[in-house]
Amino acid sequence: MLILAIETSCDETSIAILKDGKKLLSNIVYSQEKMHAEYRGIVPEVAARKHIETIIPTLDKALNKAKVKLKDIDYIAITNGPGLITSLMVGIDTAKSLSFALKIPIIPIHHTESHIYSNFIEEDNIKFPALALVVSGGHTNLILMKNHGKYEEIGSTRDDAAGEAFDKVAKLLNIGYPGGPVISNKADLGNSRAYSLPRPMINSNNFDFSFSGLKTEVLYLVQKKHNKFSPQEINNICASFQMAVIDVLVSKTIKAATKYSIKSVLLAGGVSANKLLRRKLKSAVNQKLNNINFYYPDLKYCTDNAAMVAIAGYYKFLKGDFTTQHVVATARME
Ligand code: KG4
Ligand code: ZN
Repeated sequence: MLILAIETSCDETSIAILKDGKKLLSNIVYSQEKMHAEYRGIVPEVAARKHIETIIPTLDKALNKAKVKLKDIDYIAITNGPGLITSLMVGIDTAKSLSFALKIPIIPIHHTESHIYSNFIEEDNIKFPALALVVSGGHTNLILMKNHGKYEEIGSTRDDAAGEAFDKVAKLLNIGYPGGPVISNKADLGNSRAYSLPRPMINSNNFDFSFSGLKTEVLYLVQKKHNKFSPQEINNICASFQMAVIDVLVSKTIKAATKYSIKSVLLAGGVSANKLLRRKLKSAVNQKLNNINFYYPDLKYCTDNAAMVAIAGYYKFLKGDFTTQHVVATARME
């Protein structure tokens, strides 16, 4: 059984082919990162136009690498939102055209759900209930996953997402885009105690997050020094900012895990590529929670990719959860 998965929700054009829910035959990712770096952020219309240019060559590459023909495909899994509406539409229209031509069903996939499933690409024995911390450019969520396809959101960001905060702080410091990897590399060379930054909502009585105040604190530092920092000062700001974000994410995840008596903790989303976050959350789970496994995706599955869409599609296929042509792009979703 072959699933072809398409992901175009943001600035990656990606197509993957998955065999029998287990064997990933290909996962081609074309990243537009360099193109958007010029603007220090994603320009939605430019992203959509690039998806149009790239989607068919990406499809050809995915089929060639997997050594399969279009006629061999049984299902198409597609990210239908949330995301950039015109970018989503490129993937969805491609999926619909293929579905119509090949007479095969479509499996629509929620973007956050696909990030959670990046943990299932190399693991099929994760115990439920699981607690997923999804941290990306658009989302910061704590999600209680009771079983495949069964979710309860227990916390989310009230303003900026964690990845968005990394991107905005990098923009303030004028050090490049996307902010996550740039900040994390500079943070490796800095002192995380050099600046005392707030840990917003760390002691609040809920599982929500807020990162915009933290970003504003960095803005004040920048204004105070008219953005004239030595390279070491920049490294120190990056390290202090990164540690503040991680402290909040780790503390709330552990608190939620304790309250909901979960059996596994999953980390997902673009920010899950952050080495220090992976390390800190792993050691907190090991030290503070009893007998709970901690999972995080391989680095290549942290940022947007179609492999995670394919695996999420497989679990939906098992439940008979698919459709023919009734898929619409949705910028915002519950
Ligand atoms: O999941 P993703 O590819 O796209 C969305 O669904 O938003 O996540 C992209 C986000 C960006 O904000 C980027 O700065 C962040 O993930 N990111 C990181 C790292 N690598 C990517 N944030 C912190 N540390 C990293 N190493
Ligand atoms: Zn994403």
